Amino acid sequence: MTTKIVAGAQFGDEGKGKIVDFFSRSADTVARFNGGNNAGHTVVVAKKTFKFHLIPSGAVQEKKCCIGAGVAVDPRVLLQELEMLKKQGKTPALSIDPRAHVIMPYHIDLDGAKEKAKGKAKIGTTKRGIGPCFADRAARTGITFGDLTDSRRFRKRLNEAFALKEKELKIYEMKPSQSERQTFSEYSALGKKLRKFSGDVSLEVNRAISEKKEVLLEGAQGTFLDVDFGTYPFVTSTHPIAGAALTGIGMGVNKIDECIGVVKAYCTRVGSGPFPTELSGKFADRIREKGAEFGTTTGRPRRVGWLDLTMLRTAQRLNNFTDLAITKLDVLSGLKELKACNSLKLGGKTLREWPADLAQLYKAKPQYRKFRPFTLPEKIASFSDLPDAAVEYLHFVQGETGVPIKIVSFGAKRSSTLLLY
Ligand code: IMP
Ligand code: MG
Repeated sequence: MTTKIVAGAQFGDEGKGKIVDFFSRSADTVARFNGGNNAGHTVVVAKKTFKFHLIPSGAVQEKKCCIGAGVAVDPRVLLQELEMLKKQGKTPALSIDPRAHVIMPYHIDLDGAKEKAKGKAKIGTTKRGIGPCFADRAARTGITFGDLTDSRRFRKRLNEAFALKEKELKIYEMKPSQSERQTFSEYSALGKKLRKFSGDVSLEVNRAISEKKEVLLEGAQGTFLDVDFGTYPFVTSTHPIAGAALTGIGMGVNKIDECIGVVKAYCTRVGSGPFPTELSGKFADRIREKGAEFGTTTGRPRRVGWLDLTMLRTAQRLNNFTDLAITKLDVLSGLKELKACNSLKLGGKTLREWPADLAQLYKAKPQYRKFRPFTLPEKIASFSDLPDAAVEYLHFVQGETGVPIKIVSFGAKRSSTLLLY
């Protein structure tokens, strides 16, 4: 029995939801370790589409689901998702770590206010309050899930935080969208409803591992949105890289057996920030439409571009993937042109990975390798059904990253998946 991490290798939206769902079938426990409801994971099962923001995608399989200490929890969203699952007849066992931080209405107010104040320099956040919530965690003025579920503690913590947040919003000439009293009354009720889900996720996951159960650790967002190693400041406020599974759950390094890097066959980004291989115009529109590249959380059109191997090699260094899952290969099918960036030119130098200093990334020019375009057949039952040109493309990704491709996905449906070993 193994412990697996599934993490995004690009800017998020790589198709992690589908890959997690795939591996969840054999898992006992599925746990999320980072982010919050800025994430949007789409899982399609037998004509039903599930969209998750907070609850691990493993809920579709009714596996034991955990939300670790590293996740920001919006209790309103959590309840909506539980309702949605109930309507679909799914009642997964859920544990939320009491150490996880809670997104409060004033975090959402502040997220909007800060973005507005930034004007053109905005990050393009999902406006879900993620940044302000994790800022409070670091400043030690946050409210944890444990606080939320204990109304006396909650009243005190809220009282301390509220005065500060009111002052902070004043800087932006704003007032909290709801009063402290309203917030207390709504959120203490939410806390009461959610109390039964409180559980020590670190303990549960470690116990599951020692009992030789199959554990899946589900990452949100992608490597280049990491607050340290991504394209700062155009990043999220947590760590989507695989290492965050350890700190986001509360477990040791040597417990991980596999680390699956999810790579979209091209690249997308939602929100601002550098994107060296970005495409524009009709060709980009075509890929966007074909790939349904509109945000699961915000509905925003995603920026699209060619696959970037310099990015993937960097992702490999940051995550040490044991295997890759390539998703959305079907979106490249039938295109007139197919390219991937294999190196960057900067001054007289050729770079094979991304520079640490973003100023250099902005100046670097992607160097492309052209590929023969391919058209996928209607039916793909095994790897040998893939056209030679598609195989060439996949071999290129495998060769240049040095990581074996374990999964090739070519559609949203579960059946549109090849497991290669
Ligand atoms: P935040 O996480 O809402 O603060 O947004 C910060 C940046 O990360 C913005 O560019 C968002 O569009 C991006 N982002 C956050 N979550 C996701 C995600 O799940 N997929 C893709 N982009 C995301
Ligand atoms: Mg997404």
